[in-house]
Amino acid sequence: MGSETTVDGSDVMVREWEEFAINMAIEAGQVMLSATSKGVNRQTESKASAADLVTETDKGIEKLLFSRILHKYPDHRTIGEETTSSSGVKNNWTDAVTWIIDPIDGTMNFVHTFPLSCVSIGVTLNKEIVLGVVFNPWLDQLFTARRGNGAYLNGKPIHVSACQKMDEALVIAELGGDRDEVKKDAVCQNVQAIMWKCHGLRSLGSAAMNTCSIACGSADAYFEFGLHAWDMCASALILTEAGGCVMDTEGGPLDLMNRRFIAASSVDLGNQLSQLLPVHLKLPSD
Ligand code: IPD
Ligand code: CA
Repeated sequence: MGSETTVDGSDVMVREWEEFAINMAIEAGQVMLSATSKGVNRQTESKASAADLVTETDKGIEKLLFSRILHKYPDHRTIGEETTSSSGVKNNWTDAVTWIIDPIDGTMNFVHTFPLSCVSIGVTLNKEIVLGVVFNPWLDQLFTARRGNGAYLNGKPIHVSACQKMDEALVIAELGGDRDEVKKDAVCQNVQAIMWKCHGLRSLGSAAMNTCSIACGSADAYFEFGLHAWDMCASALILTEAGGCVMDTEGGPLDLMNRRFIAASSVDLGNQLSQLLPVHLKLPSD
């Protein structure tokens, strides 16, 4: 493989972060499995709505990963779901090396033991994603990508499907965790607009698993309003390194802090999906 990390950090450095991130992801996966075997995954608190859950395991994994990162790399920065939601403060995303982490993406699945949740670890430098690691311990699936070096599932290269048309696409849509009336109405209108125009509609309950499914060719397109940077960061790189694309729901470049996300096997398919959506929510940025 080439070594084409074009940002300030050399690929040797990003490789070191990758190895470190993979070890952390596997450790986090073990914590998830052990929590489930003890039944503590079902002890929840709610955040923005009754469908936006957090467990002690989410908080514990985030704390563990942040302490590992800051111990090894004291000058790096961190952004994580649980720290951000408990502080109520906007993310201070800078050009510095920043680890953007979702300790458990798919917490609702985790709570119910539906086997599609994962830890998601992304790294940005100069606001570009340079590393993505996503690990689903239930299916033992480790997705990895370094910028410019392709995407891998358990060490084997992966690629998006050849699907170019909406009427042949397996499309993913999510209800999401926000349950206000504007959001509910937008989800209904958008789903209705695409549901009979594609091969089928799915909802895996984890933004990272949704996006990685497109990266390995098992699904073709996905949209959601209301995601956060930690839901998108790692898997966005995995998808683009697998030959796919990520974009704003209105077709421009993806802004990780803007909470609007289309992922697709090609730019063409992403644009087709964008044009079919009747409602493009504008949400407060992260
Ligand atoms: C959620 C999942 C879900 C998506 C929600 C996210 P969480 O993340 O990715 O699929 O629909 O919008 O918040 O809360 O499980 O980390
Ligand atoms: Ca989460």
